[in-house]
Amino acid sequence: MCGIVGYIGKRDVAPLLLEGLQRLEYRGYDSAGIVITGKSGELRTVKAKGRVRELESRIPKRFAGTTGIAHTRWATHGAPSDVNAHPHLDAEEKVAVVHNGIIDNASELRARLSAEGTVFASETDTEVLAHLIARSAAETLEKKVSEALRSVEGTYGIAVLHQDFPGRIVVARNGSPVVLGIGEKEMFVASDVAALVAHTRQVVTLGDGEMATLKADDFRTYTTEGSQTTATPTTVEWEAESYDMGGHDTYMHKEIFEQAEAVDRVLRGRIDDRFATVHLGGLNLDAREARSVRRIKILGCGTSYHAGQIGAGLIEELARIPADAEPASEFRYRNPVVDPDTLYVAVSQSGETYDVLAAVQELKRKGARVLGVVNVVGSAIAREADGGTYVHAGPEVCVVSTKCFTNTVVAFALLALHLGRVRDLSVTDGKRIIEGLRRLPAQIEEILKTEPEIKQLAKAYADARSMLFIGRVRGYPVAREASLKLKEVSYIHAEAYPASELKHGPLALIDPSMPTVAIIPDDDLLEKNRAALEEIKARSGRILAVAHQEQEKADHTILVPKNEDELDPILMGIPLQLFAYHTALALGRDIDKPRNLAKSVTVE
Ligand code: F6R
Repeated sequence: MCGIVGYIGKRDVAPLLLEGLQRLEYRGYDSAGIVITGKSGELRTVKAKGRVRELESRIPKRFAGTTGIAHTRWATHGAPSDVNAHPHLDAEEKVAVVHNGIIDNASELRARLSAEGTVFASETDTEVLAHLIARSAAETLEKKVSEALRSVEGTYGIAVLHQDFPGRIVVARNGSPVVLGIGEKEMFVASDVAALVAHTRQVVTLGDGEMATLKADDFRTYTTEGSQTTATPTTVEWEAESYDMGGHDTYMHKEIFEQAEAVDRVLRGRIDDRFATVHLGGLNLDAREARSVRRIKILGCGTSYHAGQIGAGLIEELARIPADAEPASEFRYRNPVVDPDTLYVAVSQSGETYDVLAAVQELKRKGARVLGVVNVVGSAIAREADGGTYVHAGPEVCVVSTKCFTNTVVAFALLALHLGRVRDLSVTDGKRIIEGLRRLPAQIEEILKTEPEIKQLAKAYADARSMLFIGRVRGYPVAREASLKLKEVSYIHAEAYPASELKHGPLALIDPSMPTVAIIPDDDLLEKNRAALEEIKARSGRILAVAHQEQEKADHTILVPKNEDELDPILMGIPLQLFAYHTALALGRDIDKPRNLAKSVTVE
């Protein structure tokens, strides 16, 4: 959502920060701002509603300095405007704060500060922090910041500059990501490694309750209470180039086309042919523990939740462990029964989604064992979990998730195979699944070659006001994800239903203006699925089938290569990602940044 970037060193800071902000653009935002320490030590601020380009055009000619912080905002408290853009300053303009997250008790703090004479310039929750820091009588900036944070309830990732304490940036984290980038006589801070990797790949990710002081040639980390913490830099695997568009017109297109390579990466080094199983190094679950799991509960949001639904199916089929997936946000608020024999699995691309993180923390507090299936290495959920597996999709920049969905499902197939092989899955079936997994990258390439036909189909269906997506058992979560993809990127209303439920209501919607996209794998439910197509056709509904063989009742069929029955869902969603993409393109949508959406939802 909001993005932070900061720098202290010897280089001219404004261009560096603007470039960093551009790298964070994908998170979605409505305004941006920058503050630097000027030549005579004064703080100089520029803010603008709109995109980073707008901010750039407002930067004065002489705006030199070597220390600064910047921000892209996604409005939560107060409308998008120049005034509400970060950084926020105190009345004397000595303290500047950029902030990601939400301060829950902001109105209470505002009322208290206003009663004491503080005049607020903006409607934001963040501004209270600038005033609280400015009012603190503590001797050091570090102490002023931690004192201010003690009054605050909520989530934050912040970076602070203070005119009276030059040569340092103080940062703090609670619930919103803060990553330090360690350079040669220069330091960076950002809310996302995307803003750092062009300059350094040595990073330190702060934990909740941690703070850091950055100086040009040194950094230290400590708790909000002031005790020193150890911070060992790790190396980011992702290259700066992975964040470029690489010849594609959009990140979504690029990421759809990276899927064969990404799947190859998640499989690499993990397959054990001898025992027809896989090794997942970070699970921290030995064979005895794996055998004693009685249930698996998968938690995620949006696309990750859908990947978890397919994952639950794979676990039930291959490991015969009862498994289901639930939106993390729903789970948190229904006071769930936490059972000691249940293994919980948190799924997240970013590893920072607040609802998932909060569910993990609640589970841990209740003594449950939680695994993470996460893309971003070192992210909050990955750190909080007892173990897990990375999905190795590489950086996903488009707000709409594609390659990470596919890789997450493959990661679940690996987990299911692993659990199956310590339980009752035979060697023969283990081998069959492994061979299926190995076929995936080439089959994905095959699907991607059908883009020209899918583009034509997308044009043919782009006039629909609403679409129904149906699938049965293995196909149902595929239908759900495909319907989410279409609605979020094209803004066409789409609804997913189990094909078996058609007669129980949704059939009433069918007429020539309401197309149905049907997932029809060649498995034991083929005939039942065909019967659903008959029902739709009898009501003059248009049908687009995604299937392994031509469907007579469908108006159009997108053919997908057949894999093992259990693995078919991995492939069947891919043409529908392209379908959503080309529908959005035909309608002239802002594909990488759909309206009202942001990548990585770090607030509730
Ligand atoms: C949809 C999409 C979202 C995310 C959801 C969870 O294309 O990207 O639905 O899947 O916000 O995000 P992560 O996976 O980062 O936890």
